[in-house]
Amino acid sequence: MKQTQKRIVLGVTGGVAAYKAAELTRLMIKAGWDVQVVLTQAGAAFVTPVTFQALSCNTVFTDQWDARIGNNMPHIDLSRGADAIVVAPATADLMAKVANGLCDDLLSTMIAARDCPLLVAPAMNKQMWENKPNQRNVAQLKADGVIVLGPDAGDQACGEVGMGRMLEPAAIMQALEAFFQPKLLRGKRVLITAGATFERIDAVRGITNTSSGKMGFAVARAALEAGAEVTLVAGETAQPTPFGSRRINVQSAHEMLDAVEREVAHTDIFISVAAVADYHVVNQSEHKIKKDSPTLTLELAANPDILAQVASRKYAPFCVGFAAESEKLLEHAQAKRKRKHLPLLVANLVQDAMGADDNEVILLDDAGEHRLPRAPKLEVARQLIAHLAHLYQTTLEGKQK
Ligand code: PMT
Repeated sequence: MKQTQKRIVLGVTGGVAAYKAAELTRLMIKAGWDVQVVLTQAGAAFVTPVTFQALSCNTVFTDQWDARIGNNMPHIDLSRGADAIVVAPATADLMAKVANGLCDDLLSTMIAARDCPLLVAPAMNKQMWENKPNQRNVAQLKADGVIVLGPDAGDQACGEVGMGRMLEPAAIMQALEAFFQPKLLRGKRVLITAGATFERIDAVRGITNTSSGKMGFAVARAALEAGAEVTLVAGETAQPTPFGSRRINVQSAHEMLDAVEREVAHTDIFISVAAVADYHVVNQSEHKIKKDSPTLTLELAANPDILAQVASRKYAPFCVGFAAESEKLLEHAQAKRKRKHLPLLVANLVQDAMGADDNEVILLDDAGEHRLPRAPKLEVARQLIAHLAHLYQTTLEGKQK
């Protein structure tokens, strides 16, 4: 399912990161957004208007005196009706102009005449980034309500290493999607477990499951989009860290419990998405077990139930569990919710939800059952967060009465 269509004016200024703006355009188009590119003269020296026209399927503008607009006022017309102006890359020069209200080309004039939010993704050499006038301009932009995305630290095109790289297009896209989501969890601290645990048998083998981490990472991203501060305790997974989250990697259920216990005192909401092994191997071997006997017996002992332990704390956060069942889904899921004293439990309707890109779930709470239709996991996660935020607020208000 595509996000609500957005209309974005993408400003591209003259830095080598301009080539990444082509990829950013592609990502926006893929999300179903309408993209109007405005290039500065310097931006057009790096990437031609033809590239952006081909990717956005829209005419590209570079000149303030462009007669293709009926009233010859592209600085007004291009941004009217836009959901946001995004400048990526944003040079020190562009930011200096905007911070000081200068209007000497189409992009800067259009920004001064805008009636929509402005987001900029700076890109420049690290000395330019740290340059005091530039830092003053960045502070001024923030004070004026401009959203500054990044920059990142790392290798630079000039060969130096440091702060000033433009965020990768995928990270900018994540930040933009987040920007447009309602801030239902603003300021809330959310702790999430995700992925599979791995219980070691010997130096090279272990017991795990097929959880990919996709659902848990999607929930983390949806919580970030809703304005929460997110800590993600991740088991085995190849998922990239959602932009803006704090990630703690663990392997076994015991390590996951330790990490959760260290974090939970500062948590408002705990969402347990991880597929945690029910048992660990007692007779683990430090070295690789040799194939020198026809049978091998593993002694297993029960793992702690992390969610149940958190939910039974004296000052427990608002706890949300997940349940994947192979039979009698609702019966088992309801029993789990009652046993673990959870205000909300998410039951996977999709039999093979582990590893899949989509999910379909039923939310179980005191009010009953709420079905979320089959959709990509991020979309399901966004709907879950909306439901959870409402329930959390109602519970909080109930406690205050
Ligand atoms: O990672 P994906 O490939 O995207 O797949 C997502 C998922 C199917 C793994 C996820 O949606 C899911 O359902 N996770 C929970 C799996 C499950 O059924 O867990 P459970 O029934 O063993 O546990 C119930 C709840 O207790 C879960 O919230 C679990 O995180 C928690 N639990 C379980 C055991 C344990 N020792 N500690 C726990 O905290």
